[in-house]
Amino acid sequence: MKNTPQMPARSASSEPAEAAAGQRVPVDRLTLEEKASLTSGADHWRTQAVARVGVPALVLADGPHGLRKPANGFGEVGIGASAPATCFPPAVALGATFDPELAERVGAALGAEAAAAGVAVLLGPGINVKRTPLCGRNFEYLSEDPLVSGELGASVVRGIQSRGVGASLKHFAANNQETDRHRTSSDIDPRPLREIYLRGFQRVVEVAQPWTVMCSYNRLNGVQVSQDPWLLTQVLREEWGFTGLVMSDWGAVVDRVAAVQAGLDLEMPSSGGRTDAELVAAVRDGRLAERELDAVADRVLELARRAAGVEPHPVDLDAHHELAREVAARSIVLLRNEGELLPLRPSASVAVIGAFAADPRYQGDGSSRVVPTRIDTALNAIQGYAEGEVVYAQGFEIDPLDAEADTGRDEAARADELRDEAVAIAEAAETVVLFLGLPAHEESEGFDRAHIDLPTEQLALLDDVISANPNVVVVLSHGGTVSLPFADRVPAILDASLLGQAGGSGTADVLFGSVNPSARLTETIPLRLEDTPAFGTFPGEEGHVRYGEGVLVGYRWYDTRQLDVRFPFGHGLSYTTFEMTNPRATSSQEGIAVTVTVTNTGAVSGREVVQVYAALEKSGVRRPTRELRGFSGVELAPGESREVVIQIRRSDLAYWSVREDRWVVETGRYTLDVGASSRDIRATATVEVEGDERPLPVTLETTFDELMADPETAARLEVAMKANGVVVDQATRIFLGGVPVGRIDGFPLPRRETEKLIRAINA
Ligand code: BGC
Repeated sequence: MKNTPQMPARSASSEPAEAAAGQRVPVDRLTLEEKASLTSGADHWRTQAVARVGVPALVLADGPHGLRKPANGFGEVGIGASAPATCFPPAVALGATFDPELAERVGAALGAEAAAAGVAVLLGPGINVKRTPLCGRNFEYLSEDPLVSGELGASVVRGIQSRGVGASLKHFAANNQETDRHRTSSDIDPRPLREIYLRGFQRVVEVAQPWTVMCSYNRLNGVQVSQDPWLLTQVLREEWGFTGLVMSDWGAVVDRVAAVQAGLDLEMPSSGGRTDAELVAAVRDGRLAERELDAVADRVLELARRAAGVEPHPVDLDAHHELAREVAARSIVLLRNEGELLPLRPSASVAVIGAFAADPRYQGDGSSRVVPTRIDTALNAIQGYAEGEVVYAQGFEIDPLDAEADTGRDEAARADELRDEAVAIAEAAETVVLFLGLPAHEESEGFDRAHIDLPTEQLALLDDVISANPNVVVVLSHGGTVSLPFADRVPAILDASLLGQAGGSGTADVLFGSVNPSARLTETIPLRLEDTPAFGTFPGEEGHVRYGEGVLVGYRWYDTRQLDVRFPFGHGLSYTTFEMTNPRATSSQEGIAVTVTVTNTGAVSGREVVQVYAALEKSGVRRPTRELRGFSGVELAPGESREVVIQIRRSDLAYWSVREDRWVVETGRYTLDVGASSRDIRATATVEVEGDERPLPVTLETTFDELMADPETAARLEVAMKANGVVVDQATRIFLGGVPVGRIDGFPLPRRETEKLIRAINA
């Protein structure tokens, strides 16, 4: 089925002189009122045109894993009622592929569908770090690790923009929960802010230059993000070199004048002209300089120039469905496979149990909800593969309360019925494939989750099914992480998160081994909610949430604290096995290149994701035990060996120095752990790196110990002490080592001698 959607005009002007010629309309051709109007929405999804000078309205649409085009056009809100579009696997799944090339192909397909619908900017990807498994919107985000989020996010941006459509990198920044998301202040110290929460954004901006960035709703360290000049101008533009447009999240602007001054170019959606008038008034009464308004209007004009004249190609929805299936299969994490229960033999008799097999959960709720072009169910797909008997039982109601309300039945009695039916088919089959998961109403944009448990009816069913037949494969559907207390009792577990419209087929592809699983956890599965890093501070109180765990986010927390986890970050099995040998590392101006030989030691082809974690034992700052600094996928036939080179950018070794307010690469011997998860290190190399520390100036506030730490200043000090007859025994040296040399006259030298020494050292 080829589909060539009608192409709405991207430009609707009568005098499109510059726009048509691909030039930017000069801002000085606009009146004050026109400039103000240009920098806010005309309605929910369109910017305001200025027909007089040929500036068209631009269409912005969600995003991020499919196009959400309101069924009756872009004039309406359209959540839940939009025209069909391919529903690709949401970010929770896409991230697990650990495959930037695949992510780029998804981006390109998204871009193509957006271009065909006349969309100038697709509102995604979302790359916020998953600070807590309770964030209701985690399904829209890629990982607990900023490298994974940054790499895959950059790929999606590249893909979208390769089709002439702009991406909108969101939600910038530190929007890591939904509770009170419009007002709460994420209170974050500089190191975690830079090293964890901004690092992914920085990467995407630097390597992929998204056309737009969407600022988040929340406040950051007390400042409303939509009016934060430090974040939107100093960091984003001046430090990272962002040249695109910053738009607000929908309704994120509190004070429009302050927002413009901070560098927010476009307010969305429409304020009905109210805030445009505020801007005009502010310019007239001198509170806002006209050149400040010009700067933001100019960036809207530039976006209009970029968006003009893209020729949309016909979209092949069949091909996109196939891509969605490929990505779905590649997103499934094989958590466990005892006794090689998987892949299933086609001849085996299979009991398929669980409502999700026939009624899949394939995406999350909120602004990203796409109306799919079609839906594959796992049940159908399993039937397609199987040669033996396939029997299905629903097993449970996905949403028992809803079911009771709909049918008027007594749900307790119904649950017994469903369970008996399931147990009966489990007993009769060779293998059981049991689909468990979270009901849609438990996670969504707009609110956070209260716990990480699967529904009790489902856990009870699992117990009964295992007693009836131990050969159980559990398939999990969920957006946020769920706890898996049964993990040791079930031989095989597939983490199928939320897989998009072709997830059912993708699941069967993995179950029957036509796709060998290769996805990896982008988020640690903890034993208990109480073990998670933000437990105790999330979701904050009285308008503030303090990120007290600092840089110890995700596996950085569990590994540094040596906490047991259910499944570690980066974990994921295959139907084959791999060996990693002969690790080497070399250092250059660009960074570190780690080389390792990877061998497929099993009987089928497969893809290994080689992960490189770096550490610096003798660091001047507190660092996590290890941090992911590079990864690379490699496809290998049985018995095949290949050298894999993983490049680590030098800047990725840096920590954020609070004292110097800049990134610092420390000199030292770095350890590079090469492995298959953060807890499955197979090989280790070390390499010496020349850093870029700057010597601290010596002052009266320099301590005795600090002077003694440097051999040169230590030698001078010793000489001066001797010359002045100062004798300090070992105990005193230890006791007074932390005292600044200017504080106690006589220790380590008389004051005047101390001053002389400092002058000599700094000379
Ligand atoms: C969401 C954004 C989305 C926008 C438009 C907001 O509520 O936070 O991610 O792009 O709405 O639907």
